[in-house]
Amino acid sequence: MILHNQDNYELLNKYVRQINELLDKALDVETGYADYLLDAMKYSVTGGGKRLRPILMQESCKLFSDPVKELPYFMAALEFIHSYSLVHDDMPCIDNDEYRRGRKTTHAVYGETTALLAGDGLLNFAYETAARAFSVTDDYEKCGKAITILAKMAGIFGMVGGQALDVKCEKTGEELNEDKLLFIHENKTAALIESALMIGAVLGGASEEDTKKLMEVGSDIGIAFQIRDDILDIEGDFEQFGKPIGSDNENNKLTYVSLYGMEKAKTDVLMYSKKAQEILRTFPRRNEFLEWLVEELINRNK
Ligand code: IPE
Ligand code: IPE
Ligand code: MG
Ligand code: MG
Ligand code: MG
Repeated sequence: MILHNQDNYELLNKYVRQINELLDKALDVETGYADYLLDAMKYSVTGGGKRLRPILMQESCKLFSDPVKELPYFMAALEFIHSYSLVHDDMPCIDNDEYRRGRKTTHAVYGETTALLAGDGLLNFAYETAARAFSVTDDYEKCGKAITILAKMAGIFGMVGGQALDVKCEKTGEELNEDKLLFIHENKTAALIESALMIGAVLGGASEEDTKKLMEVGSDIGIAFQIRDDILDIEGDFEQFGKPIGSDNENNKLTYVSLYGMEKAKTDVLMYSKKAQEILRTFPRRNEFLEWLVEELINRNK
């Protein structure tokens, strides 16, 4: 069992290395006088992210087929969108955070204007990268579906929509209830994780029904992931978490922990994760690494 775990850690590290190479290669472009912007984009993408979303996409595809050639384009695209969401999330007008991944945030290094534009740059570069999958595919419909999922989950029906309610409640003091908090978690965090699993499934040739099941898995993993993030914002260790502890409290943000208490928050991370694992076990092509990864996230410290 211990050996088994060790194998999974090695696999995880290997995937992170491969994804880092993929991202570096994609960003190895010429931008002429916009070089300063490209530097800020590269800074925002690198620096030790967990690369959870592209890994989930890859592993979801493996539930249906061996990795397909379109996959790397979408893995990189999703990580670019995730990175841009963090750059904007950290800015003074949103969460006003100075540290991420154990180093200064993009706006703290490059200034607000360049951070804003680096986010814009990454968002557009993400779709440019995803669209390049059309040049290697023989299945346009599949790629079109994947891009539609990405755009929908990243935008007003997903991440951006969730961020909007998150900051609105914080800045205007609008009362937050259980329903609104779930909307925030589902959208600001779970939507991109759902898109990872759904795109992986679509590219792997999954049926509509199976793709829907993976959306559910993504929703459960995503909600658990954000609750754990809220927990770590209180009792995490800066060295490991890489982000300021107590940021939510400083912003008077209502979080899962402030609404339900620490004990229920921890129980619910477990509950949502177990739900996700249960659905994953129903697929005929089991992916034990993916099931293990969901388990790992329950008690993550970074
Ligand atoms: C941070 O996401 C934002 C949340 C949704 C909590 P990650 O924890 O995946 O960030 P990195 O990419 O590993 O730094
Ligand atoms: C998730 O929420 C943010 C995004 C969707 C970008 P947080 O604001 O809690 O994320 P961290 O803690 O700054 O990474
Ligand atoms: Mg935020
Ligand atoms: Mg934040
Ligand atoms: Mg947080």
